[in-house]
Amino acid sequence: MFIVKKEIKGKDYYYLRESIREDGKVKAKTIAYLGKTKKEAEKKAKEFKQKIEEGNMEEKTGKKTIENKKITIDELANFCKRKGFVYPTAEIYGGLAGFWDFGPIGSELKKNIKDAWWKYHVHARDDIVGIDGAIITNPKVWETSGHVENFTDVAVVCKKCKNKFKVDESELKDAVCDKCGGELESKGKFVPMFTTQVGPIEEDSSMAYLRPETAQLIFTDFKLIQDNARLKLPFGIAQIGKSFRNEIAPRNFLFRSREFEQMEIEYFINPDKKEDCPKDAQIDNFELNIYSAEMQEKNQESEKMTIKKALNKKIIALPWHAYWLKTELSWFYELGANPENFRIRQHTKNEKSHYSTDTWDIEYKFPIGWKELQGIADRGTYDLNAHQEKSQKSMEIMDDASGEKILPTVVAEPSLGVERTFMVFMLDAYSTNEKEEVILKLNPKIAPIKAAIFPLVKKDKKLVEIAKNIYKNLREEWNVLYDQSGSIGRRYARNDEIGTPFCITTDEDSIKNKDATIRNRDTGEQKRIKISEIKDTLRKLISGEIEFKNL
Ligand code: GAP
Repeated sequence: MFIVKKEIKGKDYYYLRESIREDGKVKAKTIAYLGKTKKEAEKKAKEFKQKIEEGNMEEKTGKKTIENKKITIDELANFCKRKGFVYPTAEIYGGLAGFWDFGPIGSELKKNIKDAWWKYHVHARDDIVGIDGAIITNPKVWETSGHVENFTDVAVVCKKCKNKFKVDESELKDAVCDKCGGELESKGKFVPMFTTQVGPIEEDSSMAYLRPETAQLIFTDFKLIQDNARLKLPFGIAQIGKSFRNEIAPRNFLFRSREFEQMEIEYFINPDKKEDCPKDAQIDNFELNIYSAEMQEKNQESEKMTIKKALNKKIIALPWHAYWLKTELSWFYELGANPENFRIRQHTKNEKSHYSTDTWDIEYKFPIGWKELQGIADRGTYDLNAHQEKSQKSMEIMDDASGEKILPTVVAEPSLGVERTFMVFMLDAYSTNEKEEVILKLNPKIAPIKAAIFPLVKKDKKLVEIAKNIYKNLREEWNVLYDQSGSIGRRYARNDEIGTPFCITTDEDSIKNKDATIRNRDTGEQKRIKISEIKDTLRKLISGEIEFKNL
């Protein structure tokens, strides 16, 4: 909102105006008449703004009725491209199916998601450490892990239209051509791991795989990590990194890509203590929307129940699994995801991976339906055992509690795709106001830009200088943005669309009062704040220590 002086027949009249968007155009709209003198106008404008803030007056901007908007995957992809989140890779050459480039805003969001995950799972805990393993490793790793043998598809060619593609071995019997519906001819097994040559001279080089999951490096390096970090059972090892799968049909934007990132944990316990979860999951009233293997087999609906009930009814077999489901869901909820869009689904007998004894997926209600977001598998001793046998190197460690040397078991492997997580936060944040303007309600912790700083008018050198100083000060700590182009309303709208939670504007009063306005993206509400307090206040707003309404 801003004050405008109009001269009518030689006399001054003051008005309170605001920039709004109508039919895609930014227009200035008069909100109130403020009197005939500047002093009177400033006083009335202040009172007016205060009333809006106190909720005594209906806000005329329409920004109070912000609602989450359901969009399709294609709409999300278009929005992401338009606003600099994600592009099809090298689009000038036609792209490459299943590969994506993250733009200036998207790469920030992706990084913030990974940082938030790492902070929650590694830095904030005593029992988990992180590693960063190689993307290309000794091929024996993938032979031993079972990926070469079990992680296979079947290459097929359509008898009618000659379309060549791959199908999952378990689906071969019922599969038809995805182009013309024709009958398929099998061309043998296909390993969906990308291969490459290691070594510069062709005849001396050897074939290697690009890793299809990050997890294996945790197993191969297990003894070193446990020893270096002096880990005592139960403990976890975490990793974030790229994985590659030559997917049969990459589709649905980032959902099924050929290059993606995973955030994975292998959580190890003593195999004799599987029932014994010291994290108290048993007595927990945390609510889960459960879709067990039995419910699926009986064609029943999923059911909401507490962890306590799910454990008592033996729907979830192990407290450790309940604990990890709660831990992972809580991470999403704390970062602003909508709990109504989540459920947990148990793998049925036929779909469990070659290494797993029990797997629960956290599913999300994507625009394409309920789909896997995160797998939480009980991998048992499968991997450590296999690497121990193949390498002839002991993977056993001393369990201090029992005083015995044991081979630990992986009671839970929370394995989450960064890109699917990215989509979840985008979909739950995507909102519009009455004028169909997009307001991306990302949690400030993961928002790509934490604050945008503007001078109200760029012609006023003093306002520009103050705004630039605020900007310089804040960028020491966060990714912030300075913008002086276009109307103030347009600048707010631009930032609302990319999820910037706070806009800080210097105006005439900033010069004498050494303050600025701070605006809340989700309500449009504005408050004045001393410039000397901005950094500290922003820190508290981002961390959630204080709420905007209590400023
Ligand atoms: N280490 C276990 C593992 O890799 P997974 O279920 O194959 O298990 C774990 O993958 C997670 O990785 C999935 O829940 C999903 O979030 C992500 N993911 C898997 N394949 C993907 C793909 N092609 N594109 C994007 N994300 C994928």
